[in-house]
Amino acid sequence: MRKRIVAGNWKMNKTYEEALTLVSEIDNMVKDEVTGDVTVIVAPPFPFLQSVGKLTQGNDLMHLAAQNVSEHESGAYTGEVSATMLKSVGAEYVIIGHSERRMYHHEDAQTLYKKLKATIAQGLKPIFCCGEPLEERDAENHFEYVGKQLHDSLSYLSNEEFDQVVVAYEPIWAIGTGRTASSQQAQEMHAYIREQLSRMFDAEAAFNTSILYGGSCNPGNAKELFSQEDVDGGLIGGASLKSRDFADIIKSF
Ligand code: 13P
Repeated sequence: MRKRIVAGNWKMNKTYEEALTLVSEIDNMVKDEVTGDVTVIVAPPFPFLQSVGKLTQGNDLMHLAAQNVSEHESGAYTGEVSATMLKSVGAEYVIIGHSERRMYHHEDAQTLYKKLKATIAQGLKPIFCCGEPLEERDAENHFEYVGKQLHDSLSYLSNEEFDQVVVAYEPIWAIGTGRTASSQQAQEMHAYIREQLSRMFDAEAAFNTSILYGGSCNPGNAKELFSQEDVDGGLIGGASLKSRDFADIIKSF
């Protein structure tokens, strides 16, 4: 069964106190208001994972994600955080290959593949991000661009490893810009992604993979986006920093 997921990527925002307030507000709203079958994920910055994890551990409705992970298991890698460490503080998911990491931290397809392997080896689930820049969309090269991103990092996984993967389509031109992909643009790319996955892995696995949309998703457009056949939820940036907006997006299913 394909899971419906709404994940909040807090990026580099919030102080410790603010993070605790935000997650407890979200927790209360989810408990009181969300009736449907939705997996809610929050991805706070590293220093807050453990404290936020205390609230999500043993909580059926809320789950914890990290925004990044090292491709290495352990050792002399100053400033890095391993999948084992993330697991030990209660993380269940890891965002891998976000365009901001590809862009500002020069993470290439091979590095992302290693991060996927390291994450899955610890029993964590990657949320693998893909998405094209504006010039690729304008050149009508967006399908090919995203297809290559999927192929270059995911295709070396086994079927069993791939079973753990969630995919997020985040067109770069829609991230933090207020310019959302139309529901039609999202649907056609999600269907294309699923088709590519079915060529790399078995068709049933591809059918059961959750594919999330990210990029200026908000309470006003979430319902329309989530109603598309191949859109299984959202990876939310800005709107996940406000508990009311995030809860309203979760309730859009
Ligand atoms: P916004 O929702 O702020 O556009 O960010 C999307 C995103 O990058 C989530 O990972």
